[in-house]
Amino acid sequence: MPEPSDALVFFGATGDLAHKQIFPALQSMARRGHLNVPVIGVAKANWNLDQLKTRAKDSVQQHGGIDPLAFDQLLARLRYVDGDYEDPTTFDALRRELGSAQRPLHYLAIPASLFSTVVSQLGRSGCARGGRVVAEKPFGRNLASAQALNRALLEVFPEPAVFRIDHYLGKEAVQNLLYFRFSNAFLEPIWNRNYIDSVQIVMAEEFGVAGRGRMYDETGALRDVVQNHLLQVVACLAMEEPASGCAEALRDARARILEMIQPLDPAHVVRGQFRGYLAEAGVAPDSRVETFAAVRLSIDSWRWAGVPFYVRAGKRLPVTCTEVLVQLKQPPRSVFGEASPKHGTSNHVRFRLGPDVKIALGVRAKLAGESMIGKELELIAAREDPDEMQPYERLLGDALEGDHSLFTREDSVEAEWRVVEPILGDATPIHDYEPGTWGPANADQICSSWHNPTSR
Ligand code: BG6
Repeated sequence: MPEPSDALVFFGATGDLAHKQIFPALQSMARRGHLNVPVIGVAKANWNLDQLKTRAKDSVQQHGGIDPLAFDQLLARLRYVDGDYEDPTTFDALRRELGSAQRPLHYLAIPASLFSTVVSQLGRSGCARGGRVVAEKPFGRNLASAQALNRALLEVFPEPAVFRIDHYLGKEAVQNLLYFRFSNAFLEPIWNRNYIDSVQIVMAEEFGVAGRGRMYDETGALRDVVQNHLLQVVACLAMEEPASGCAEALRDARARILEMIQPLDPAHVVRGQFRGYLAEAGVAPDSRVETFAAVRLSIDSWRWAGVPFYVRAGKRLPVTCTEVLVQLKQPPRSVFGEASPKHGTSNHVRFRLGPDVKIALGVRAKLAGESMIGKELELIAAREDPDEMQPYERLLGDALEGDHSLFTREDSVEAEWRVVEPILGDATPIHDYEPGTWGPANADQICSSWHNPTSR
């Protein structure tokens, strides 16, 4: 077993990710008695520790609520180093703040463009010695920059010390995709091209760029969520069974299927931008960055050849929810003379991944009465567990323990970039859509029967 880290350093302590995710995760860890190391925030903001504490309080109040006991424990562990990431004295101050810690975990909650600078300073100052590093997604901007970033990380940290985070892998519902698939025998015989007609994954967000205009305008939907979160969901749905439940076996199985997803053909992509995006703070007035993407993926494997995987993600859509719809083929003939039901209304497996969690089997059953006519039903196999641990809490805890199971390996990151690389930038036109709709009408060219989930 690897030794646990003995300090947690997070860069970007005054930023958006820390506010939305990291402070709430740290408070939850404290509540469960899992936060036993000093926590050192680093940022360039001209702040002091008291200001960071005020920010931490605001963060937990806005995201889940304050737990006075746990929050006090977090405050007691919190330290702060302010300084420029280019300046060696920032890292000398960090080394002093680390005191006797021998195995710090450095979490880079900062734009990927700053990773190399921070990592080389960690190496020079001695802060990296014995330590680990967590890199936020997206890992690079394309294949070449991901490879360059990886080289920069590996110059300072050995591969077992590198944790590439994709918080979707830390979601209870995403883990349940794997658990449900490989813990029930009934699914396996039909989980292939002979019985499955298509697979849809939709990640809809009712909100827009939520104050992250500048960051989002450098990213866009394809880099923000398709290259990472949604391809990982595809991997969980499509992969072969891992050799075991251990970290490398899971990572091998994910990497193998990601390598079988074919690079995207621009003819199978529709990009959109919601009306009003250009007026968001931080967005370039002539931006052609997509806030919506619909793609059709093909997996070149014996199991999946010919089965389309439709992926759609967008901001300012009618609801906030992420769902998977696995559409089974229709029965070969209608014995009772009923018209073929519409896609998505029955004969499916539906995984709702958020905000609530559900696994449902869509079937038809006979309506009581003389005629042999039926209705659609869903058999609900699983529902949300209210005590669910949030992904950032789970992933931070795993990284502190040195457990890689839910982190992305470099071969997977590169396979993901190979899938989206042909369609990045202006490779395809961009179409406007009205906020509150399901994206541009052209998306119907990709799939004629999109599954539009509801808010419950
Ligand atoms: C982040 C993206 O990684 O995931 C955001 O940068 C997106 O744009 C978010 O809103 C969605 O995460 P979740 O866990 O709320 O589905």
